[in-house]
Amino acid sequence: MNVDDVKLIGVMGGGVMGGGIAQSCVVAGFNVRIRDLTDELNEKTRETMIEGRFGLRGAVERDKLTQEQLDTALERLSFTTTIDDLRNADLIIEAVPEDRDLKKKVYAELDGAIKPEAVFASNTSGFAISDLNQAVSRKAQFIGMHWFSPAFVMRLIEIVYAPETSEDTIKLLEGVGEKLKKETIRVKDAPDAYGFVANRIYFAAVAEARKVMDEEIASVDDINKAMRFGFNWPAGPLEMIAGARKGWQ
Ligand SMILES: NC(=O)c1ccc[n+]([C@@H]2O[C@H](COP(=O)([O-])OP(=O)(O)OC[C@H]3O[C@@H](n4cnc5c(N)ncnc54)[C@H](O)[C@@H]3O)[C@@H](O)[C@H]2O)c1
Repeated sequence: MNVDDVKLIGVMGGGVMGGGIAQSCVVAGFNVRIRDLTDELNEKTRETMIEGRFGLRGAVERDKLTQEQLDTALERLSFTTTIDDLRNADLIIEAVPEDRDLKKKVYAELDGAIKPEAVFASNTSGFAISDLNQAVSRKAQFIGMHWFSPAFVMRLIEIVYAPETSEDTIKLLEGVGEKLKKETIRVKDAPDAYGFVANRIYFAAVAEARKVMDEEIASVDDINKAMRFGFNWPAGPLEMIAGARKGWQ
């Protein structure tokens, strides 16, 4: 399968990431069906995708998108609460909460319901792909696809391959990334570490910034200034610490 064969993307779980991922995909020209647990959750996701801070309406207001592109994107979007409605999906992007057992349960359920040639991609922030893939029989078609928040805005996608992931699956995801106009990087699954490349480096820098703060080597403001003006970071490491405390994202 190559990117032109991807006619329908099923997104498992709306929410913060699923909604942003779906938004990027419909704007890029993919048909997307989101599956969440209730109609209310689906309605909330739809509302955020359109009216939210990083939503489509704002993109039109900032001239990033035309009204016509917004309307066409919405025509490609549908919602369901039933897994069976995803059975014809060519690619499933899973964005349910970061709970290993939940993700594996969801994959076992999907494996029996979705057509065998479909590819499964997990937006896990850090679980080993070689562990999550144990829940399915299609291990060659199982891969990590780690987006950054807000998904519609951030340009990086980490493509994480396990030993069983096929080269075709990696190439398919790279093709999808290109169509999405995102930058992709290839990452080898590292089961002993939680997190892939960007978060590991980022959190190491935040930990060092906290050490510098605790050792009273420089003030909090000056630590932030060091990275903003020395390395052109958009914000200092201790300004982003509230985000860092929330965990791996
Ligand atoms: N929030 C971030 O900044 C960020 C960034 C990158 C990756 N991630 C990862 O993305 C995933 C989702 O995170 P989020 O922040 O979007 O969570 P979220 O709680 O905002 O969204 C998760 C959604 O999944 C739904 N859900 C739960 N069980 C389900 C099921 N069985 N079937 C379908 N839907 C189900 C929930 O109702 C919810 O709407 C996690 O693995 C997280 O680690 C998050």
